[in-house]
Amino acid sequence: MATIQPGVPDGPPRGRFTIVYLIHEAFRRDLTRLAAAVRDKDVSTARATQLAGHWDFIKDQLHHHHQVEDDSLWPLVRPKLSGRDEQLAVLELMEAQHRSLEPYTKGVDGGFTSFARLGGQPAGEELARKIEEMQSHLGTHLDDEEQRCFPVIDEALSEEEFDAFGKATAKAVGVRGSARFFPWIFDGAQPVERHAVLTMPPPPVRLLCRFIWEPRYTRRAAALWGA
Ligand SMILES: [Fe+2]
Repeated sequence: MATIQPGVPDGPPRGRFTIVYLIHEAFRRDLTRLAAAVRDKDVSTARATQLAGHWDFIKDQLHHHHQVEDDSLWPLVRPKLSGRDEQLAVLELMEAQHRSLEPYTKGVDGGFTSFARLGGQPAGEELARKIEEMQSHLGTHLDDEEQRCFPVIDEALSEEEFDAFGKATAKAVGVRGSARFFPWIFDGAQPVERHAVLTMPPPPVRLLCRFIWEPRYTRRAAALWGA
C-alpha cells in the first residue's frame, strides 16, 4: 500500500492513499449501479440472482475493508497519537461509523431476500431505496475517512510502517482474492493510478491482472451492467 509517494515523478496524484481511494470509489460506483439495476421494470429471477450475487461480493469487500482497518490499521496508528485527543477521536469516529453501517447492510440483505421471492416491482423499488440509504450512510463515512482520517494516518505512520501494513494486507487478500479485487478497483481508474497500484504486488500478479483477470472482469461487468 505504501510504495506510492506523492510528488514522485510520474507518481499518482493521490500518493500512498491511491489504493484506498480506488476501493472507496468502487463501493460508490457499484452501489449506484446496483440501485439502478434493481429498479429496472423487467428483472427476471435469473437477473435478480445475478444482482444478489454481486451484492454479496460488495458486502464481503466492505466487511474485509473495515475489518482490516479495525483490527490492523487503527491499532498501528493509535499508539502514535498518545495525548492527542482530537486525532484519537477521529479513529473512534471511524470505528463507530463502521458499526453503525451494520443495520443498513442487513436492510439491503433483507431487501434482496424479498426481491428474489417476489421479483419485479414494488420489491425492486423498495430494495433500491434500501441500497441508496446504505450508500448515503457509507458515503458519509468514506468522505469522513478521506477528509479527516487520512491526514491523521499520514502524519502518524512512517513510510516503512505504511509499507509493512500494505504488504500484510495484500498477503491476507491472497492471489485468489486479488483476481477479483484488482480488476474491480481498476474499473474506471486513471491509468496512472492503476499503474501505481500494480507496482506494489509481485510481477506475476501484474501479468495475471493484465492478461487474465481484467479481461475476465470486463466480460463479467458487461454481463452484469450491460456493455
Ligand atoms: Fe472505513
